[in-house]
Amino acid sequence: MDQIDHAAAPPIIELRNFRYTYLEGTPRASEAIRDVSFSIRRGERVGIVGPTQSGKSTVVDSFAHLLRLKAGQVFHDGEDVATPGYDRGALRRRVGIVFQQPDSQLVEDVVGADVAFGPTAAGLSAEETRRRVEESLDALGLPYPEYRLRYIHALSGGQRRRVAIAGVLAMHTPVLVLDEPMAGLDPRGRRELMELLIRLQKDRDLTLIVCSASLSDASLLCDRFIVLDAGRVVVDGPVREVLREPGRLAELDITLPEPVLCARELGKLFSDLPTAVLTEDELEAEVLKRLGLV
Ligand SMILES: Nc1ncnc2c1ncn2[C@@H]1O[C@H](COP(=O)(O)OP(=O)(O)O)[C@@H](O)[C@H]1O
Ligand SMILES: [Mg+2]
Repeated sequence: MDQIDHAAAPPIIELRNFRYTYLEGTPRASEAIRDVSFSIRRGERVGIVGPTQSGKSTVVDSFAHLLRLKAGQVFHDGEDVATPGYDRGALRRRVGIVFQQPDSQLVEDVVGADVAFGPTAAGLSAEETRRRVEESLDALGLPYPEYRLRYIHALSGGQRRRVAIAGVLAMHTPVLVLDEPMAGLDPRGRRELMELLIRLQKDRDLTLIVCSASLSDASLLCDRFIVLDAGRVVVDGPVREVLREPGRLAELDITLPEPVLCARELGKLFSDLPTAVLTEDELEAEVLKRLGLV
């Protein structure tokens, strides 16, 4: 038996009573994370959901040690990433983060050079780098021959976001984190990005983590939600279980999926209607059942 026992392996990411204060020790100190604990296993698809300023970005930035972390709080593959001498470069080759503001991630003027930046810095050959740039741009619907020499500043916001995602994809990290990737995209752009992420997650067996203030996008992409509010975890569980209590989420200023909102309203007519419906088809089936039509 040389199969890896994933259940016995340490979680790929674990936070233990993680706390974080920006500008600690200064008059402008701001306590962002009060107490957050969870672990994420390989291959999971997790939505980190919560209202603005609840701490989502701070939590995911900790995964790649982009903050001044204290010991004993953030672990990767069972190792404390804040241990002196821990190889942060290796960590960042394993955890790819697409930031909330993609412009902060773009380092070159030209699309091809920007996507090539990470693989080149990681020491890949020119040939392998070119292959990855082509593959990543193509995957994001930015055909390589057409886009590789385009100036980034002349692209639309949605296209710049896709270039930023391509730059992270080109690194082939086993963990892919996207911080509010759907923000600013039109419905078609959202659908395309969603389909791409679902396909990539399957093909590459990724651990996928998506931050969002909307449960709609995240519910189609993820099978577990970690809900944050004011720097604490308020709910952590399978998507359907979390959606079973929509009242609690509505209080938090999180956008609920449309079928869940409809199910809540229709619950006034059908008292036993479940709210954990992810699609309109599921909702329709539940209603038809209650009308005795199926
Ligand atoms: N660079 C920073 N300096 C100071 N405070 C910050 C910084 N980044 C975030 N914060 C504060 O930390 C808290 C959590 O922010 P953030 O993690 O960005 O939440 P979210 O991503 O859910 O909007 C907020 O109160 C925010 O103002
Ligand atoms: Mg954020």
